[in-house]
Amino acid sequence: PILIVMLCIAAYLVGSVLFAVVVCRYLKLPDPRALGSGNPGATNVYRVGGWEPAAITLGLDALKGWVPVWLAHLADFSILVQAMVALCAVTGHMIPAFFRFKGGKGVATALGAGLALAPLTTLIMAALWLVIMWRWRISAVASIIAIVSGPVISALLEPETLPLFGLLALLIVVRHRNNLIRLAQGRETGL
Ligand code: G3P
Repeated sequence: PILIVMLCIAAYLVGSVLFAVVVCRYLKLPDPRALGSGNPGATNVYRVGGWEPAAITLGLDALKGWVPVWLAHLADFSILVQAMVALCAVTGHMIPAFFRFKGGKGVATALGAGLALAPLTTLIMAALWLVIMWRWRISAVASIIAIVSGPVISALLEPETLPLFGLLALLIVVRHRNNLIRLAQGRETGL
């Protein structure tokens, strides 16, 4: 159990590294928390600096979700423990210890964690995200629809991961509350 607690804490701390802020600082771009939607995520890094820094941010934020869950998998921990580790990483991104507990929406981190734990479900969700993004060009819409579809897809394909996708959907939709308000008011700008 001590190893599980340590892994959860490590996942939370790794999740707490907001790569949107780190990448923009390193590339001398404006702080994404001060521009666009103000969200420290890949979408807003795209607004601030274009697709290259956005892709790097997406990759690193996903990696910080993937690595701890993959370690839990290698250590032969149960699906429940792996799911807990995934939630710790996503929580780190949302409420980061290193950034005054003001974080992002958790989509990229959930993508990485999901790929490690339930690759089939997550790949279908990612494909859904891409299709919606291609059609409507509003990242928040793509993220919300993809994450809400997670519990349904996992129930069909990888049912042991349903509780995780249920919780992720709940957390990530709540984090998009400002996007939802803007969408309802017709003020969401997308990319
Ligand atoms: O992953 C975050 C995305 O769904 C929305 O980002 O910057 O448009 O609020 P943003």
